[in-house]
Amino acid sequence: MMEYGYSEKVLDVFKNPHNIGEIKDADAIGKVGNPACGDLLWMFLKIGKGRHVIEDAKVKTFGCVAAIATSSILTDMIKGKTLEDALRISKQDVVSELNGLPRQKVHCSVLAVDALKEAAYDYYTRSGISVPEDVKRAHEHNSIVAERIEHME
Ligand code: FES
Repeated sequence: MMEYGYSEKVLDVFKNPHNIGEIKDADAIGKVGNPACGDLLWMFLKIGKGRHVIEDAKVKTFGCVAAIATSSILTDMIKGKTLEDALRISKQDVVSELNGLPRQKVHCSVLAVDALKEAAYDYYTRSGISVPEDVKRAHEHNSIVAERIEHME
């Protein structure tokens, strides 16, 4: 049954989200915001040395149903993957994993994927690893957005 245009899966994840909270000794933290609605999302990762496998992932999401559902499902999707493989997950993959989102809420799924890229940027920078071009570009974009949000506060 669809409620407010949301699939049953979205509502299940929203009512019972996984991996909510902080990781105190996180190896990477990504923070992103949506200037249109003011929603904010932090992603925390624990990453194993060597192959850079994501051992743990948590999110703190101050946002709408779609932002909470997409960030929660993304943490489930990336755990156990290498950071490199996790970064290949697109917003469309996340939306498909939730059996779709109402069209007007698809943009909310960008937050989760962007937070992962921000966390990756943080990890690569802290570890002295050269940052892949697409992660660098995403970081530049996110920094501009973050500045706009700060000026709104
Ligand atoms: Fe803000 Fe969905 S309305 S992320």
